[in-house]
Amino acid sequence: MIAVTPTPILTGIRLDGGGKPHPSRGCSMIDAVSRLARKRGAVDFCLGAPDYPPNPEVLRAAAEAVRNCSHIYGDPCGLPEFRAAAAAKVERFRKIQIEPETEVTITCGATEGLALVLRAVLEPGGEVVLFQPGYESYPPAVLHCGGVPRFVRLWPPQAEAGSWEFDEDELVAAFGPRTRALILNTPHNPTGKVFGRPDLERIAALCERHGCWIISDEIYEEFVFGGRTHMSPIELHGIRNRTAVISSLSKTYGVPGWRLGYVLAPPAATRTIRCIQEAVSGGAAVPLQAAGAAALRLPVAFYERLKCMFAARRERLLRLLRGLGMFCPAPEGGWYVMAAPGALGSVCAGDFASFLMERAGVAAAPGGAFYQEDPHTGHGWARLCFGRSEETLAEGERLLSVLSTSALTTDCVSVCNRR
Ligand SMILES: Cc1ncc(COP(=O)(O)O)c(C=O)c1O
Repeated sequence: MIAVTPTPILTGIRLDGGGKPHPSRGCSMIDAVSRLARKRGAVDFCLGAPDYPPNPEVLRAAAEAVRNCSHIYGDPCGLPEFRAAAAAKVERFRKIQIEPETEVTITCGATEGLALVLRAVLEPGGEVVLFQPGYESYPPAVLHCGGVPRFVRLWPPQAEAGSWEFDEDELVAAFGPRTRALILNTPHNPTGKVFGRPDLERIAALCERHGCWIISDEIYEEFVFGGRTHMSPIELHGIRNRTAVISSLSKTYGVPGWRLGYVLAPPAATRTIRCIQEAVSGGAAVPLQAAGAAALRLPVAFYERLKCMFAARRERLLRLLRGLGMFCPAPEGGWYVMAAPGALGSVCAGDFASFLMERAGVAAAPGGAFYQEDPHTGHGWARLCFGRSEETLAEGERLLSVLSTSALTTDCVSVCNRR
């Protein structure tokens, strides 16, 4: 556990309002594109949030909890009922026993979970291995704890049926005497990679050898397709004592605004995480935790329906984008399709996401947001979210159809080149 002083060097922002935030230390590019989409009336495939209502049972539980629940401070580490429900879900789906009293901490979303775990395991100058492309909030979260990100590439497949892979030598080279943790995200945002047992075993062996932590962000754990299954590193033999799993209700239950997540960690790490949490947020909203517990107890049929719904939406978006000539590796899991211009390359000379916004009125997340060390590499990619209602998908189809290669004229070249 470390003391974090909000110096201008760490945050890039002065408390007197001066200074300028550095893009690598916060200020989400994805939020900025989403805001722009709203301003321009573009259809938003950028933000990783659902645009359909949450499960009605969960909403009923929330309304009831607000009426009947205690409204005073709760235990910062979470309602016992929620911690028990989180542990029971892990046991139900992963066949692993977790002790709710000593190994579960309820957090304000996965975002707080990640910040707490990083503060617990990092000292200033400690290095954290991150895959690139990767979720845009990881590098700022590491930097704000005084840590140093070390990036390892996930290389795109040559063919659409292939998977994004890391090079084992590059991964080995990223570890050194100052490495404290690796952040794993499976299923992966933005590529949709589902890390399989051999990947996890390689990562676990390196973390074991270097005495560092696996911080496993499993927020998309329910979203796996094409016969793949999600596996958590805590299912591997012998690595559980140095693994912290982070999950959240945001995606699975469609309630990102509730800010509810949880961390599973060994008892000693959980004690540290809870101490930090007391000073950081004091815990998540009590009535929503009660509703969250109801969500975690939903029957297996809920998860099966969810998976089917997302598989169909993934299929629909892939078919559309590929039909327009884009190159889109099939995501094995998660909520997103990574698309490159493919046949559109001849008319899109610039950043692909800007091209889609300008030419079709469709907002996609710019690939550069996920390549923090080297944003230019990301310019050839746009990430589109298929966590969208049928209506939004239909509107996206209508707008994107203007990109059919035959309809494109040289004015597209000037659109791209203006940027
Ligand atoms: C990989 C990943 N982790 C964490 C989060 C944030 O989760 P939460 O809303 O629970 O804070 C997101 C949100 O998009 C994400 O994609």
